[in-house]
Amino acid sequence: MAETAKPTSGNGLLDELLLIIREESFRDPMLDAVRSGSISRAGICRWMLQASLVVRDFTRFISAIHANCPDQNGRQLLAENLWEEHGRGVEGRDHYSLARRLARSLGASDADLDNVQPLPETANYINHCFNVTRDGSFVESMTALGIGVERPIPGFFGSMAKHLCSNYGLAPSDVQYLLVHVNEDEMHARRAEELIDANATTAELREKAIQALREMLVVKRQFAEALYRHCLDAN
Ligand SMILES: [Fe+2]
Repeated sequence: MAETAKPTSGNGLLDELLLIIREESFRDPMLDAVRSGSISRAGICRWMLQASLVVRDFTRFISAIHANCPDQNGRQLLAENLWEEHGRGVEGRDHYSLARRLARSLGASDADLDNVQPLPETANYINHCFNVTRDGSFVESMTALGIGVERPIPGFFGSMAKHLCSNYGLAPSDVQYLLVHVNEDEMHARRAEELIDANATTAELREKAIQALREMLVVKRQFAEALYRHCLDAN
């Protein structure tokens, strides 16, 4: 992925974070499976059921970062992000409702969604997000969530939406959960980078940010790999 040069404060943190993303990110196998049409609809449904558990708690991660954020501009971004997650107050447009709609279009019932149990790796991913956002500094939590989680989402979700429609017959309204993230998360990630850069004012904070990103990428990868195996079992 080509990275455009960004003005930084000169401490090199953003460059290092983006280098880690390039070197340590991996290609989620679900994307190729959906692109080739090789995974069953039931398998994708399992993917969305587990993902719904993460989506359900995502607003709480954002709130935790907000509570620990010393930067007024950062709180503004997080408040906007939270409002978007809540569908800007429109019933049925909050991201958890949209995620449920996508799961239902893949065959899940409301009972499936209400009763889904997390895989150990799903639970671990959610717990990790709670831990870093509640206990980490603003720079650590914003790096873990803004760079580690949100930054890759527009590309991933945009491709998933396209192939779910072309290979599995879903309608654009079914995949709204994926599509709303394409534009919103691109903007979030850009603003998150500026805030991290502005607030990582010491070598210790910069080192902690790097560590937080590395840890998030490991946990996310364990989640994605376990989830893919779980989805293949439905084939
Ligand atoms: Fe979201």
